Amino acid sequence: MQEILNIILSTEGTDAGAACSILAALADVDVPPTYRGMVVRAQDAAMFDGLASRDKDPRKSLQLMDIPTPPLGPGEALIVVMASAVNYNTVWTSIFEPVSTFKFLKKYARSSDLARKHDLPYHVVGSDAAGVVLRTGPGVTKWRPGDQVVAHCLSVELEDATGHDDTMLDPEQRIWGFETNFGGLAEMAIVKSNQLMPKPAHLTWEEAAAPGLVNSTAYRQLVSHHGAQMKQGDTVLIWGASGGLGSYATQLTLNGGATPVCVVSSPEKAELCRRMGATLVIDRNAEGFRFWKDENTQDSDEWRRFGERVRELTGGEDPDIVFEHPGRETFGASVYVAKRGGTIVTCASTSGYLHQYDNRYLWMNLKRIIGSHFANYREAWEANRLISRGAIHPTLSKTYALEHTGQAAYEVHRNAHQGKVGVLCLAPTEGLGVRDEALRAKHLDAINTFRGR
Ligand SMILES: NC(=O)c1ccc[n+]([C@@H]2O[C@H](COP(=O)([O-])OP(=O)(O)OC[C@H]3O[C@@H](n4cnc5c(N)ncnc54)[C@H](OP(=O)(O)O)[C@@H]3O)[C@@H](O)[C@H]2O)c1
Repeated sequence: MQEILNIILSTEGTDAGAACSILAALADVDVPPTYRGMVVRAQDAAMFDGLASRDKDPRKSLQLMDIPTPPLGPGEALIVVMASAVNYNTVWTSIFEPVSTFKFLKKYARSSDLARKHDLPYHVVGSDAAGVVLRTGPGVTKWRPGDQVVAHCLSVELEDATGHDDTMLDPEQRIWGFETNFGGLAEMAIVKSNQLMPKPAHLTWEEAAAPGLVNSTAYRQLVSHHGAQMKQGDTVLIWGASGGLGSYATQLTLNGGATPVCVVSSPEKAELCRRMGATLVIDRNAEGFRFWKDENTQDSDEWRRFGERVRELTGGEDPDIVFEHPGRETFGASVYVAKRGGTIVTCASTSGYLHQYDNRYLWMNLKRIIGSHFANYREAWEANRLISRGAIHPTLSKTYALEHTGQAAYEVHRNAHQGKVGVLCLAPTEGLGVRDEALRAKHLDAINTFRGR
């Protein structure tokens, strides 16, 4: 592993072309027989039984382990991971909710000979990565050892016809590092080659690793024809606007000529939204919005008060699009505040998946609810292209060493983080991997908006 790292580090200060020629030497380096990775263990799956969700502590379940390097199959690539990021799915895996992810691994393993290797008593987690290709499996033609890449997290088989219009509809669609093994929170990872995309040259490894999952998800949810098809001039209500998904939804909204109404829960988060360029911000905590009177009863007066507040900010406009993910706690309000004919687009249910809303507001006002999940390769590629061009920026607030991933996941679970939390995997320090200093200099302030927050 040290030899690999030395080769990668020897590219520091070179431009993209020179780095590429140096990194081609990785083709001749032996593949390390083991690597360090963050895992949850099957034997721990019941460790939090009986505890409330918020008391389940990822620091107790996430462990650093030496992983035997798995064999590389057709269409796959073994990548050296310089940096990764914490996504909420690693929180779900680490607290074994809503189900243990070992169920996913077992099911996948039953599907083919190639997939059998995923069924192990440990699950290497993580759905983002920036790094370098070390080896490619049979049949891979687009990528070579030495390519600097980021990986998106869509794993598909595409043997079934249903996946060939929109690959997210493949019945064998999985999220890498959540529903498959050998994920990105590790020094190496196995991906399908059609998960690879060029690493944005102006970013460090940890900055490049931060946007992948959430930026692609927000892109499909908000911009794609599979999602809400946002257009110039739209008003977009964004829950958790400085969080993982929300910080990209806010940028995509501004970049697309629409107006975000950002909802957050603290003055610091409100300030981050303003620093991204948003002007309409609601601090749900400071303004005391409580959409539920008790566990079973929603408060429609609060929906109204919230709607009035949105109109006050927008000059009388209701949201064309509501960007949903908190779920049960906010969904009734989201359906209520969307414009007549508007769209509520949802990709998650952090606060509970059994939603309740007043259907009269939906049908009488011809609103639509769209379910959205990650992104297909094309959408992930488009989202990554916006990052590469400096139109959308990473929202990395801080990074942790690989062995402290549990602490990073704990902070995300407790909603104590800002934007994205990065993890250094093989990269020994922050700040490495930049190949285009000129583009970086142009966007440095925007790239650093969330840093140190
Ligand atoms: N389907 C997919 O493909 C997909 C992809 C990515 C993520 N997800 C899911 O989406 C959810 C959010 O992910 P993320 O990465 O954005 O997480 P995150 O970084 O924790 O951000 C979520 C934000 O939502 C807000 N929030 C949390 N609970 C809330 C509540 N009860 N009411 C109102 N706002 C609330 C918080 O902002 P404030 O406290 O500032 O309001 C928080 O910053 C997770 O459940 C995740 O698993 C799904």
